[in-house]
Amino acid sequence: MNKIIPINKSHVKMAAKLHRLAFPGKLLSLFDQQLLEEIYRLLLELPEVYLSGYFKKNKLIGMIVCTLNTSSSFKKLALKVISNLHIVIQLFRQIIIHPQIVFQTLSLLIYPSKNLLKEKLPEILVIAVNKKYRRQNIGYNLIKNVEKYLQRKQIFHYKVSVESANSIGQKFYQKMGFKQRLIFSQFQRTWHVLVKKL
Ligand SMILES: CC(C)(COP(=O)(O)OP(=O)(O)OC[C@H]1O[C@@H](n2cnc3c(N)ncnc32)[C@H](O)[C@@H]1OP(=O)(O)O)[C@@H](O)C(=O)NCCC(=O)NCCS
Repeated sequence: MNKIIPINKSHVKMAAKLHRLAFPGKLLSLFDQQLLEEIYRLLLELPEVYLSGYFKKNKLIGMIVCTLNTSSSFKKLALKVISNLHIVIQLFRQIIIHPQIVFQTLSLLIYPSKNLLKEKLPEILVIAVNKKYRRQNIGYNLIKNVEKYLQRKQIFHYKVSVESANSIGQKFYQKMGFKQRLIFSQFQRTWHVLVKKL
């Protein structure tokens, strides 16, 4: 049976694997499996972060991560990382293997200050669907699931940032009804900030 349910600690292995496959070389996917699992474990501890997954026969084939407050979530995540020696050691090991991780991490930390809309809006941080199952409306259903969560909280606007080079992501969000509100660049990459009214 197919279902969308909240992601919990027992799913972090699958979530990290799906993340690394969906964003090759980007968005923390240079982290090895173990380190990315740690990051997902920490994300699950943040009360303002909503993670849900689309499961087919208990296998995670799609997921979405949304935060009610991006800058607060990023700050808390960074603090949790630096206060956990085990994760810091893993991070340094990974930096030795892939020095680009320094830039990726830095750009993530700077990101909330670049993403300057007047109003503070909830934000989709990640949406990913296993390649084999794309174009089957799973992304659409994950978006609808987040929207129900936001509506329950009486929230009627939210946003997402998508890289200009990600043409599929751009088309997907356009189809979902998002409208472009801002463009910004960092480290030679251009991002479009899109907003949707529910
Ligand atoms: C973006 C992504 C989540 C879409 O998931 P999906 O389950 O394939 O999307 P859906 O089947 O729900 O597509 C909904 C609509 O989006 C548009 N769309 C989705 N993929 C598309 C593609 N490859 N080309 C053109 N339009 C596309 C279509 O309009 C589609 O409706 P249609 O199939 O009736 O034409 C998926 O491609 C993915 O995981 N990409 C890698 C990660 C990523 O880039 N995430 C977004 C940035 S965070």
